[in-house]
Amino acid sequence: MNYKISYLPKNKWKNYPLDMEFKTHYFYDFEINDNNDRVDISFILKKSDEELNCPIDCDFPEILYPSYYKNCKAFGVLENDNLIACIQINLEYSNRLRLTTIWVKEDYRRQGIGTLLFKYIEKYALKIKARAIILETQSNNVVSIDFYKKMGFEINGFDKSCYSNFDKEKKNIRLELVYYLN
Ligand SMILES: CC(C)(COP(=O)(O)OP(=O)(O)OC[C@H]1O[C@@H](n2cnc3c(N)ncnc32)[C@H](O)[C@@H]1OP(=O)(O)O)[C@@H](O)C(=O)NCCC(=O)NCCS
Repeated sequence: MNYKISYLPKNKWKNYPLDMEFKTHYFYDFEINDNNDRVDISFILKKSDEELNCPIDCDFPEILYPSYYKNCKAFGVLENDNLIACIQINLEYSNRLRLTTIWVKEDYRRQGIGTLLFKYIEKYALKIKARAIILETQSNNVVSIDFYKKMGFEINGFDKSCYSNFDKEKKNIRLELVYYLN
């Protein structure tokens, strides 16, 4: 495997759409048990009876360089001028680098390209002296959670009403993950 990672300049790649759609039966079920002096929060991997079409409750397609990220930078792997994988980051006010997108074209998955992209960004984050890498994912994106756990990410938080008032019922809880750099 010999993939080269290149910078994807904003003037060429702004608004480039990424196909993030997937179907799954698996999700992390979320429970909060509040017993006055003790609150237990759990995420348990379960199999859903019905197939989930993901992303759920996504009003806009995933694109590179969306206008709501001000300090965005994207890097990717090109094969015959076609994008086969990319990663996008945005430095936040808290000196944490937000990994806003990671995507590998379906036929190229499970060959180590995602790992290669993450390692590239980790090196970049260390160079600019960011203190951590953070990201958002969803409780039904079990493949990406497995991937991030393999990279060394851990749970940083959750938001049970981010996408709708019925995120638990829809099996679509926002999870925040963190990878500490020092
Ligand atoms: C998540 C994603 C970027 C991973 O990219 P990838 O190139 O397939 O990842 P790698 O081949 O480097 O995998 C590294 C490790 O991650 C884990 N992993 C990756 N895909 C997995 C899968 N389908 N099931 C279980 N574990 C998986 C494994 O531990 C794997 O190591 P191994 O192959 O030695 O077992 C890719 O699946 C993808 O583009 N998904 C769709 C877009 C998406 O959901 N992005 C995340 C948004 S939050």
